[in-house]
Amino acid sequence: MKIPMYRVIDEMIRYNAGDPGLIHHALKVYAFSKAIGEEEGLSKAQQEILETAAVLHDIGIRESLRKYGNSDGTHQQIEGPPIAKEILQRLGAEEALIDRVCFLIAHHHVYTGVVGIDYRILIEADFLVNVYETPSMQKSADEILKNNFETEVGSRYFKALFLNGAEQ
Ligand SMILES: [Fe+2]
Repeated sequence: MKIPMYRVIDEMIRYNAGDPGLIHHALKVYAFSKAIGEEEGLSKAQQEILETAAVLHDIGIRESLRKYGNSDGTHQQIEGPPIAKEILQRLGAEEALIDRVCFLIAHHHVYTGVVGIDYRILIEADFLVNVYETPSMQKSADEILKNNFETEVGSRYFKALFLNGAEQ
């Protein structure tokens, strides 16, 4: 059964209640993922996985902070998938979607051996938002573009945001 995205978004907002920064971050990553995925021509199934993963990609941050006092990627990647799995099972998502979304949540800070257009676009969308939210990253914009962006659309967005739209 296809789950309406508003239900996933609603769950993410409830889970992160009281932390508007986390909620805004997830919604921005979702919007970039959605637009990049649509223009890159993902299949319906890939697009659904990508959008769901984007909304839930940082769902492990709260639990990481509670357990370890920090939200290091390594902690989030352990804490996030079980939370996402519980939410998606409750919403009646299919097993294949849950498995891939949990894989993406667990790997979205792993930038080597990226296989799959959903995985690539999630990383790109997260960079589009993180480089904005962490201004110190902007001095490495050239490097970030070179090392992490492969899609035409994601690269175009990144240049427009951080490289004055320059053609590279
Ligand atoms: Fe993120």
